[in-house]
Amino acid sequence: MMKLLDGKWVSALILEEITAEVALLKNKFGKTPHLAAILVGNDGASETYVNSKMKNCEKVGMESSLIRLDANVSEKELLDTVEKLNREQSVNGFIVQLPLPKHIDEQKVIKAILPQKDVDGFHPDNIGKMVLNMPSFIPATPFGILQMIEKYAIETAGKHCVVVGRSHIVGLPMSILMGRNAYPGNCTVTLTHSKTKNLKEVCLSADILIVAMGKPDFITADMVKQDAVVIDVGTTRVPDSTKKTGFAIKGDVKFEEVAPKCSYISPVPGGVGLMTVTSLIKNTLLAFKNTL
Ligand code: GUN
Repeated sequence: MMKLLDGKWVSALILEEITAEVALLKNKFGKTPHLAAILVGNDGASETYVNSKMKNCEKVGMESSLIRLDANVSEKELLDTVEKLNREQSVNGFIVQLPLPKHIDEQKVIKAILPQKDVDGFHPDNIGKMVLNMPSFIPATPFGILQMIEKYAIETAGKHCVVVGRSHIVGLPMSILMGRNAYPGNCTVTLTHSKTKNLKEVCLSADILIVAMGKPDFITADMVKQDAVVIDVGTTRVPDSTKKTGFAIKGDVKFEEVAPKCSYISPVPGGVGLMTVTSLIKNTLLAFKNTL
């Protein structure tokens, strides 16, 4: 029988835990965790994500600040803003929302973030620690997926986990995490990408299939093994005149035909997306506790 991986339910549970802990720490230390976000330009999806991050901070009793920069801000000016947040004592963690305009070197900006404030877990120091299974900030979307797997007590040891897509934000860290000697983890991992041959056959051999490629409805029923766990990270906006916004959010998995074959499947929307914000908040709380 197929079970839905309900991101709304899991994220609400975790946000409740965080709310209680934030209140407790405020009482004990008279301080509140503070997340800042830098948003460059006004891409619609990025605006939505950042607003949701700020709103959820409020919800759990944390402080948040949004720093908006013009789309044609210079790299130097952005790096100066990062430096300012590195030095700002009241800010425990901050993120630079990606993607950045093409004239800015993303890696250079990420490297400028103080690793102990890098709650996105994108800094090379944090990626390195994650690979070595040392305490670190785990990138929010992969961290969210791990927490989801954990809440549903899905077995992972010895399973074949296939990750589709090798982005630095999702696919690459996910492949590392599922192979770690930990729970969730201990999988045999295959990381697939645009040059992969026989993708269909590889996907068919997956016990756990994690898809993060940004191609709506790409994964069809004939690519999924009976009783597989399918996690859909896709969030592509497609025009939809029946929606108030004018668009619908589509996952990478053709849900209606794939779902009946799965033991577990995450829907879009209502799956991984909600977990991402929750995980960022969780990382911010961790950054704050590291300063106490
Ligand atoms: N763009 C898409 N996902 C993310 C994320 O997790 N963090 C940041 N900073 N930008 C993103």
